[in-house]
Amino acid sequence: MERTFLMVKPDGVQRGLIGEIVHRFERKGFTLVAAKLMMVPKEKAEAHYAEHHGRPYYDDLMSFITSGPVFAMVWEGDQVIALSRIMMGKTNTLEAQPGTIRGDYAVHTNRNLIHGSDSPENAVREMAIFFEPHELVSYNKTIQTWI
Ligand code: TYD
Ligand code: MG
Repeated sequence: MERTFLMVKPDGVQRGLIGEIVHRFERKGFTLVAAKLMMVPKEKAEAHYAEHHGRPYYDDLMSFITSGPVFAMVWEGDQVIALSRIMMGKTNTLEAQPGTIRGDYAVHTNRNLIHGSDSPENAVREMAIFFEPHELVSYNKTIQTWI
């Protein structure tokens, strides 16, 4: 069982897409472990996107991600890291297929609605940036035990 860090970015919150995005992961069968609406402090934004420092889009990314509230989440499930990346769609909106979150709702690569961890290492790193250990809730679903 894996955990991943997902985040509805400020554009998704502004456009009223929190519910739509959460619904997709619930419907898929993943388990919500933690969630909160929050402003991202500059230090957390820099830590989260450290690997992008120096890229041409970095300054825009920093100002965008700190521009308004995000909806930060931790989700759990088998292969949730890879599967949630598929559900999100490709980073480049020209490559994001219809049926994915970005493919269905995003027009610009730099306003692409959702973040998702891309590896187990980054999932652990990103969860620790946005959540305290006590905020993660462990529980079993008693109805859909096959998921
Ligand atoms: P990246 O980690 O490559 O994509 P993803 O969000 O799919 O993991 O990039 C992080 C964010 O940086 C991306 O969601 C949007 C922004 N970005 C741009 O604005 N332009 C770009 O060319 C790239 C690669 C990223
Ligand atoms: Mg990434």
